[in-house]
Amino acid sequence: MRLTRKVMALAMASTMAVSLTACGGGKAAETTAAPAAAETTAAATEAAKEAETTAAAAEESVAAGGNIGVCIYKFDDAFMTTYRNALQEILEGKGYTVTFMDGKNDQAEQNNQINNFIAQGVDALIINPVMTSAADQIIATVKDADIPTVLINREPTAEQMSAYEKLVYVGCDARQSGTMQGELILETETKGDINGDGKISYIMIQGDPENVDAQYRTEFSVKALTDAGMEVEQLDLQRGDWDRNKGQEIAQNDLAKFGDEIEVVFCNNDDMAIGALQAIQAAGRTVNKDIYLVGVDALDAALNEVAAGNMTGTVLNDANGQAEGAVEAMEALLGGKTYASGEQSIYVDYVKVTPENVADFQ
Ligand code: BGC
Repeated sequence: MRLTRKVMALAMASTMAVSLTACGGGKAAETTAAPAAAETTAAATEAAKEAETTAAAAEESVAAGGNIGVCIYKFDDAFMTTYRNALQEILEGKGYTVTFMDGKNDQAEQNNQINNFIAQGVDALIINPVMTSAADQIIATVKDADIPTVLINREPTAEQMSAYEKLVYVGCDARQSGTMQGELILETETKGDINGDGKISYIMIQGDPENVDAQYRTEFSVKALTDAGMEVEQLDLQRGDWDRNKGQEIAQNDLAKFGDEIEVVFCNNDDMAIGALQAIQAAGRTVNKDIYLVGVDALDAALNEVAAGNMTGTVLNDANGQAEGAVEAMEALLGGKTYASGEQSIYVDYVKVTPENVADFQ
């Protein structure tokens, strides 16, 4: 079974369209082969033959399925729920048998789950680590078991990943999302300086600071402002651990403490921004009039608030694109592809979301 899947995945790597349409089984693969077969050269005939083999292999493998273990850092995370649903749809649509485990934000628990998956003999793993600092240990474990592995959402360093050539990270470059948050503020009428005192006074509601997404978004959102020549004043920076309730509490306390001094509320993700919005509204402040609010992710709830003018903007963290990329990378690994050091991170672009283009994302 492993070999058949290898043949399929190898063929997939050479014909991208096949990998995108494999859920349709052999039929889709045959359709992909048609243009090559139409050509008259010997090479084309050869290619057509190869594609037929691919189609047959794909059909057989999809029917046979493969066992995939997926570890999520915690199910109770708004963004990772969207991501998990996307992964499930894609993997099951392709005929894989998938088991999702909830790490419950506990690295020890997740380590057990990884070991159990290995003991069960899964064909591949997709892991969203609980702690980025546990990357070395996770990588050593999957390497020892020789299991092709795709890490998602929490990026280890290139050096850590270089320990295992059957390992890839699929995610986004969090610096980009931070920069876009800063740009959203610079694109407002007052460029973030609502009271006209020559500086942008902000509070920063941070995700889990152990996570590079939180570190980079915090740094690069402000860097975009200073790079544009703006003066900035940080009134407060607190960790909200990606959590809506914590976002609400932090914003509530800061609004009580700093009042009108706060011109911008930066949130490392949308769930915390939705919480902050509740506090902003309870304090009688009006977003885009006397305060700005930005998040990241483009959760449905945030898109609605952007459309209604209750959030200045957000940044699409493309869960579907990342899930597709993760499955594609997993299939390449199953096909025997290995990754050289320094080439183990695959990035999906972030996209800025404003009231002008929000409808495109809803
Ligand atoms: C998302 C957050 C999420 C976190 C989990 C980030 O990329 O923006 O919403 O909580 O990943 O690690």
